[in-house]
Amino acid sequence: MAAAEGVAPATVRAMRPADLDAVMLIERRSFTAPWEESTFRGLMRRPSAALLVAEFEDELAGYSVMWFAADEGELGDIAVTPERRGTGVGRLLLRESIAVAVSRGTRALYLEVRETNEVARRLYATFGFAVVGVRKLYYTEPVEDAIVMKLALQDEVR
Ligand SMILES: CC(C)(COP(=O)(O)OP(=O)(O)OC[C@H]1O[C@@H](n2cnc3c(N)ncnc32)[C@H](O)[C@@H]1OP(=O)(O)O)[C@@H](O)C(=O)NCCC(=O)NCCS
Repeated sequence: MAAAEGVAPATVRAMRPADLDAVMLIERRSFTAPWEESTFRGLMRRPSAALLVAEFEDELAGYSVMWFAADEGELGDIAVTPERRGTGVGRLLLRESIAVAVSRGTRALYLEVRETNEVARRLYATFGFAVVGVRKLYYTEPVEDAIVMKLALQDEVR
């Protein structure tokens, strides 16, 4: 799909079943309540979902997961392998995810993020995501509120 400008010479493509071992390693290292592999497999079979991976020097460096309904989308998961964080992979993945959402006619892309996840919140804010709500006690391990963010895409060039 696309190569990063800047520091990360990473590329982004659609996730495949063969990626799942590497995806699950990153998922388990990134979240205290990681998704099951079956969740990724199920979403990969859904035409209404889009799962992307970023590769860096032939290694899977990160991934994102979205699903769509009518003109709305949800960014349900995004993670970068700890060794590659801070090198632009997350930004590349988010940029490509937004491009996919736009290409599917999405007018509003939503996500939830832990209130204390400042790195992710800053990343989302730089792409124009705005806080639109709070889901009280949304997360477990530890229990924490979710901040709901929305990116309005109606002004994007299609
Ligand atoms: C959130 C995450 C995907 C970001 O990926 P990344 O590859 O590290 O991010 P990038 O290197 O592209 O950096 C993008 C922006 O994130 C922020 N950021 C990244 N690393 C940061 C750090 N160590 N401290 C503060 N901000 C940071 C900055 O705003 C940065 O933009 P800048 O370089 O212009 O300042 C990654 O940290 C991650 O996998 N975290 C664990 C899983 C997670 O929390 N996912 C989000 C769930 S809602």
